[in-house]
Amino acid sequence: MSANGNRIPPGPKGLPVVGMALNLRSDPLAGMRQMTRDYGDIVRFHVMMQERILLNHPDWINQVLVVQHGKFHKSELTRRITVRMLGQGLLISEGEFWRRQRRLAQPAFHRNRVNDYASTMLELAQAHIRDWRDGEARNIAQEMTALTLDIAVRTLFSTTLLAEARQVGQAMTFLMRYSLRRQRLPFRIPENWPTPANRRANRELEFIDSLVYRIISERRTNGNSDHHNDLLALLMNAMDEDGSQMTPQQLHDETMTLFLAGHETTAQMLAWTWYALSQNPAAEARLHEELQGVLGGRPMEAADFPRLPYLQAVMNEVLRLYPPAYIMAREAVEPCEIGGYELRPGSTIIFSQWVMHRDPRFYDDPEAFRPERWLDGLQDRLPPGAYFPFGDGPRRCIGQGFALLEAAIVIGTLAQKFRFRLVPGHPVVPEPLVTLRPRHGIHMTLHARA
Ligand code: HEM
Repeated sequence: MSANGNRIPPGPKGLPVVGMALNLRSDPLAGMRQMTRDYGDIVRFHVMMQERILLNHPDWINQVLVVQHGKFHKSELTRRITVRMLGQGLLISEGEFWRRQRRLAQPAFHRNRVNDYASTMLELAQAHIRDWRDGEARNIAQEMTALTLDIAVRTLFSTTLLAEARQVGQAMTFLMRYSLRRQRLPFRIPENWPTPANRRANRELEFIDSLVYRIISERRTNGNSDHHNDLLALLMNAMDEDGSQMTPQQLHDETMTLFLAGHETTAQMLAWTWYALSQNPAAEARLHEELQGVLGGRPMEAADFPRLPYLQAVMNEVLRLYPPAYIMAREAVEPCEIGGYELRPGSTIIFSQWVMHRDPRFYDDPEAFRPERWLDGLQDRLPPGAYFPFGDGPRRCIGQGFALLEAAIVIGTLAQKFRFRLVPGHPVVPEPLVTLRPRHGIHMTLHARA
């Protein structure tokens, strides 16, 4: 019971001051699973004297994301990590401002629009593996990041940014690591102190900002002509019902958001796909068989996607076991009731795809990679909130269709040419950073398919 007589969810006490910070820092994925095993579907704990409520039941997750979504905002933590790079972009903006931006951006993600990018995705996937040779070893996680970066740059900016693509990617990776590391430190050094990390962060931010503003202003001056058939052009042309359009700052924030949210997540999904297939040769063989039957060696197109159910099942299963977005957070902005408990405004609520997607109440043999489980309508039988790799409700991922098409084309293209096997002794360890990454990369040997 709390002082005002409300019931309080059960949970570990943790250490004085730091609470559960140390338990979660060493292995947050195992730490969260342990808490749900020990305390059940709703757990209360503290990190550095701040309260957290962990939800581990589909019904409660569905309450937060869908049924009572208006009572929650994105958490302060998410905002702090990303605000310097993404400003008021879709991922973190709120209220009427978010609604307008989502309305303006939505048409760019309409299925027909997204399908227009299939040929670019295919072209870049084919180009990426052109010099890959039988028997060589590559860090496949790094390769997937480079490939999805190329795809993000080309689909957002056409050819405008090709020369700087790698540099932009490196700057973004540094900034995400930097922001996350700052949040995890017990005592934060102010951003304006001239430490080497702060100075580099400022340099990288200025580099990206000036590049994006330059492109926007050049297009404004020269006319956002038809030959730019990219996401930036769609955002620049988007007009609200009252005739208003996005300002350069809004365009900057949204392009940065799409760039960041778009390429890193899909890269991790692809990296985990090659790992999972290498560990499950029967699933790999069945995928190869399906690709051969439907495509017969020809390049994949958007129209093939619905005719490749096993490929879709493989993707579902990868997103179940290795969800790139492995945790989500919200902050209550109004009093609400979840799981029979009254939660106060300001409560930080978290729930984890990593934990929920492994729950034996909803998945048989949950640790096993079995794409077959998705072939008999599992998705329709699962209760809402049990499988949410792309979130849910009004803030569901705007790029879901884009990501699934991109992943399908990359998998379909590479799997027709190569089989990948882990370099013996190479450790594969999931590392929960902003996304779920393999800590040491994934070093694999390429075997050309006959
Ligand atoms: C496998 C790939 C991807 C995964 C797993 C993923 C996952 C997610 C999740 C879980 C959310 C919801 C976050 C929340 O509610 O707190 C989200 C939101 C979002 N995603 Fe994705 N995403 C992926 C790919 C993409 C792509 C390709 C793009 C853009 C091209 C994108 C753009 C966004 C944006 C803009 C939002 C915020 C939407 C809003 O709040 O209105 N994502 N994503």
